[in-house]
Parts: sequence; structure tokens; C-alpha cells
Amino acid sequence: MINPGGAIPADAVIGRDREIDEYWLILQRQSVGLLAPRRVGKTSICRRMLAYPPARVVPIMRNLEGLQSATEFVARLADDVDHIVGLLTRVKSRVSDILGRFGVGLDVPGVRVQLAPAQWKVLLDELLHEVNEATPENGLVVFFWDEFTLFFGDLARRGAAEEAMVLLDRLRAARQAFPRIRMVLTGSIGFEEVMEQLRRHGYANDPINDVNKQIVPLLDEVGAAKLAEVLLSLLPGTPPLTLARFIAQRSEGHPLVIQHMADRLRQSGRIDEAEVEGALQQLIADDSDPLELSHYLERLGHYLPAETLTLTRTLLDTIAVDAQGVALAKLVADLGTDREQVLAALNRLRKDQYLLREGTDHRWRFRLDVLRRWWRQERGL
Ligand SMILES: Nc1ncnc2c1ncn2[C@@H]1O[C@H](COP(=O)(O)OP(=O)(O)O)[C@@H](O)[C@H]1O
Ligand SMILES: [Mg+2]
Repeated sequence: MINPGGAIPADAVIGRDREIDEYWLILQRQSVGLLAPRRVGKTSICRRMLAYPPARVVPIMRNLEGLQSATEFVARLADDVDHIVGLLTRVKSRVSDILGRFGVGLDVPGVRVQLAPAQWKVLLDELLHEVNEATPENGLVVFFWDEFTLFFGDLARRGAAEEAMVLLDRLRAARQAFPRIRMVLTGSIGFEEVMEQLRRHGYANDPINDVNKQIVPLLDEVGAAKLAEVLLSLLPGTPPLTLARFIAQRSEGHPLVIQHMADRLRQSGRIDEAEVEGALQQLIADDSDPLELSHYLERLGHYLPAETLTLTRTLLDTIAVDAQGVALAKLVADLGTDREQVLAALNRLRKDQYLLREGTDHRWRFRLDVLRRWWRQERGL
């Protein structure tokens, strides 16, 4: 199925076997944070992991985007644990008991509960305790919480920072206390950004320092070519032999770009390199921003202090002009700014997946050329 952007079924998730094996391996001993910019394929990876868990692993997925409070989080957790009671029979009666005590019925699916703050904490602890107890010694329950950082960022922004902090601490405590529970936490914005927001509210803990943070890479050449091949095989006719490789290369391994390229070939009926280039150009020009590249620009304003923001934007503007990148010495000279400040801003941008540093002369360039091209257009450069 060629599907640029929609939720894709697990079997249509191609080229992620290596990452998935790696994440399951880590999950044997530790919870995992999956970080990457939007649309790079985090949710798709989770879906495939969910569909093919290893033996004795019970995966449960929940998208946290849009949840309004810790209370709602716990209520959804109660629903989700309820869904697995068929497997974890012991949980059922005991969780029913707990929920019963709070006056929450288990047989009302999607029930919106209004728990007092003290109640959600107790219920959270008890639910996770029960899940752990009900899981056999050699088994694991893995909670995939998609858009985890977005949820906590939203809480913090909406004046519920206190609640966010308590919930983060409770989840961390649960990871310490319950050896048969793991969490996969995904985020398009960094945990660091959320932490910074919470620190402004006086939060001093590091509630995810026990989580193994993984940056989800773009597809490698083999994975990208494989995805391209699968999508090309769905088109009528026989595509040129080298076209899958060309798509892999021009997409830079961005799975959604590959989907869009395939879709454009399908729509136009012309299966050639010119159409692939056309698809790329179209993606950059499209006002609806299918790759959500504007997120890169907007998020800077959300988490950078004003003095750093201007420098950071100027650096990106300067670097965007040259596909080969710009050497550090030139950046410092051109901007006429303190070298240390420039370096700090650049390194932050590297950590946040905007830029790469290459070569002995410290050349800095955009990690994704499609982002660079979009940036030039958007910023009128
Ligand atoms: N491994 C993959 N195989 C095929 N298509 C993919 C893959 N990863 C991502 N995609 C495509 O990219 C889109 C965005 O991926 P998604 O997993 O939603 O990204 P994220 O969760 O990081 O925002 C998907 O809807 C799908 O069209
Ligand atoms: Mg996602």
C-alpha cells in the first residue's frame, strides 16, 4: 500500500528490522526512549513492534497526544490494562477491586473518570503493581507511550507542571520497583526541552535518566531501497532497474519522502527519475507541509531563550545557503559573534538533529537536504 502519511499497518513498515531487534534487546533490561523529528517513522516502528513481540512479551500501546491530565492518563491506563486481562487473568479481579474502590466500573469502556489528585497517584501505583504481579517471572509488559514528550510538554505549558512532575517521578519509581514492566517513550521534541520547561517551575529531578535514549535514524540505504522496491512493485509496469536505488538516494532515507515519491509516480503514471525529482520539489513547495518541516522552525521559538534564538536562526540561515555546509571559522567570522556562543548553538542544533559536523575544518551542514531546501524557501534566502 502506498500511503504517504496515514497510519500504516505493521506489515507495510519496511526496513526497520535492525532498529527493532536492537530496541527489543535493550528492552530486556531497560526502558527505551525513541527520539526523532516528526514523520521519521517512530510510530510505525512501534506499530510493528506491537504486532510482532517476542515470546512472553505483552506490548500495550497508547498515543498520549491530546490527553488533558494525569488523571486522564491513569484512566486510559486502566482501560489498557483491562484490555489485557484475558492474558493476565489475575489482574482482572484485583484491578476491578481497586477501580471499584474508586467507583470506576471496568465494564464501561472509555469511561471518563474524575479522580481527585490523591486518587490518580494511588491508582497509578496500584495498577502498575498489579500488572507487575500478574506477569510471570520471565515475562514483560511493555507500555508503548507514543508522543510522551508532547503530552508532558502540553501539561507543563497548560499550567499543570506540578502534576507533570509528580507523574514523571511516579513512572520513574515504577520502573525501579517493577522488574517486569518496561516503557517505550517516544518524542518528537526532546525530553530535554520538556525538562527545561519543568525546571523553570523548580523541578530538580531527572526522571528519565534511567531510560535508554535512542535517536531513531532515517532508513539506511538498504532499508530505503527495500521500501522503494516494495512500493514500486505496486505500480503497473516494470520500473527501471536502478530506480529504487535512485529513490533511496534522493529521499535521503526519509520513509515519508519515499512514500510521496511512489505516490507521485502512481498518480502521474510516469515511472522515471524526473518524476522522483518532481516529487521532492513538490514536497518542499507544498503549503500543507506534508513532512512537517515547519516544526523544525517553530520549536526553536518554544524552547530557546531569546538571546540564543536569534543567533541560532542566523546560523541556520547562513548554513542553509550552501548544500556542502559552512566551515566553523567562516561562521564565526561572518557572524562576528563569540566563538564559544557559536559552538554552543551549533552543538545544540547537532544534538537536536538539525545539523551535522563534518571534516577536519568543522564544516556544518543540514542533516537533511530536503530540510535545507525548505528552509531556504521558507526564510526567503
Ligand atoms: N518503515 C516504514 N515503512 C514504510 N513507510 C513508513 C515507514 N516509516 C514511516 N513511514 C511513512 O512515514 C509516515 C510517517 O511515519 P510515522 O511513523 O508516523 O512517523 P513519526 O511517528 O516519527 O512522526 C507514515 O505514515 C508512513 O507513510
Ligand atoms: Mg508518531
